[in-house]
Amino acid sequence: MTASIETIPETGSTNADLLARLANGDLVPEGHWLIAARQTSGKGRQGRSWIDAPGNFMGSTVVHMQERDPAPATLSFLAALAVYETSLAFVTTPQAVMLKWPNDVLLNGAKFCGLLLEMAKGAVVIGIGVNLTSAPVIEGRKVDTLSNGGSAPSPQTFGEALATQFALELQRWREFGVEPIMRRWLAAAHEIGTPLSVHGDNEARISGAFDGLEADGALRLRLSDGSLRVIHAGDVSLAL
Ligand code: BTN
Repeated sequence: MTASIETIPETGSTNADLLARLANGDLVPEGHWLIAARQTSGKGRQGRSWIDAPGNFMGSTVVHMQERDPAPATLSFLAALAVYETSLAFVTTPQAVMLKWPNDVLLNGAKFCGLLLEMAKGAVVIGIGVNLTSAPVIEGRKVDTLSNGGSAPSPQTFGEALATQFALELQRWREFGVEPIMRRWLAAAHEIGTPLSVHGDNEARISGAFDGLEADGALRLRLSDGSLRVIHAGDVSLAL
């Protein structure tokens, strides 16, 4: 599969654009990336917005589900790994880059990349925002830029490297399944036993220790009384 990159100066949301194209019956082939230099209505997880800035990467791509593919939700681990691997080339200390459940990428514990997966009929739109050179100030959240870890690639350079890595991970996901992807994700994530604070859907914040992942990618949280909570959606902070 050859990656093709379409770069536009501005749009509302690259995810919304690809979803609209699919709903319209347009053919959006796998390997095609829509990258915007600016986004005026960038969408984040859990109904939040994603704040843009010139010099940052904001792009989306599509995966068309095939009959024998693993569960679509596991694409979030694949996408996070693709960003992780791509980012390593631009940092001086690889250990500073870490994955956080469900699909954030951190530099020294602060988020510099977020992913948003949205389902369309038979397809998944995967949107990726990477703070390459600027990070918004968000109260109560630790955010950073990739440039603070080393060098700052241009959005185009980062996008080309990411498209190549994403295609490779997608091929592995189809050929070998999710298990090796999960294993690599775990190796790049916070360690087992790391104290986490989780804000699940419609739930108060709960604290516990990271206890790995369920086979479907859900978070296992070990509470102080020894019981196990399985979290399917929510926001996680490293309680470091
Ligand atoms: C998050 O909240 O962590 C997910 C943020 C995802 C942002 C990206 S930027 C490109 C794509 N288009 C959007 O509107 N959102 C995603």
